[in-house]
Amino acid sequence: MASENIKLPYKSIIDGGLQPGKSFFIRGVVNPNPYRIQFSLRHRFGIAFLYNPRFDQNKVVCNTWDGQWGKEENSTSVPFVKGQPFEITIYCASNNFDVSVDGKHAFTYAYRFQKLNEIDVFEVLGDAQLTCVQAA
Ligand code: GAL
Repeated sequence: MASENIKLPYKSIIDGGLQPGKSFFIRGVVNPNPYRIQFSLRHRFGIAFLYNPRFDQNKVVCNTWDGQWGKEENSTSVPFVKGQPFEITIYCASNNFDVSVDGKHAFTYAYRFQKLNEIDVFEVLGDAQLTCVQAA
């Protein structure tokens, strides 16, 4: 993928889609007056996984879109700090996405959309600057 001063929105195609063991590593800096950041893993018909730090509500919202939003799974702490650098890893485990921020486990999201190989777009939107995005 890419590195250094990546402007948002950022979008990349995941060759062959997801499978257990695949991971995404993103390094960036939160904007000084952030509203929200949106990390999405998408497929042709929807969003398999939205990880959405919300500074306005002081929580992280996780959800799936399949024509409509499903039930939100929220974390009541936001492991991102305005104006500060961060590193986030999204790891595809056998049954769930595992999110770590700055080396600490932050969220587990059980797969709702099960056809991992059809999840072929990774997207980041919102109030951050990115310096590195790697897929492994
Ligand atoms: C909605 C919001 C969407 C998305 C969704 C997640 O309120 O408009 O952008 O974040 O929540 O459940």
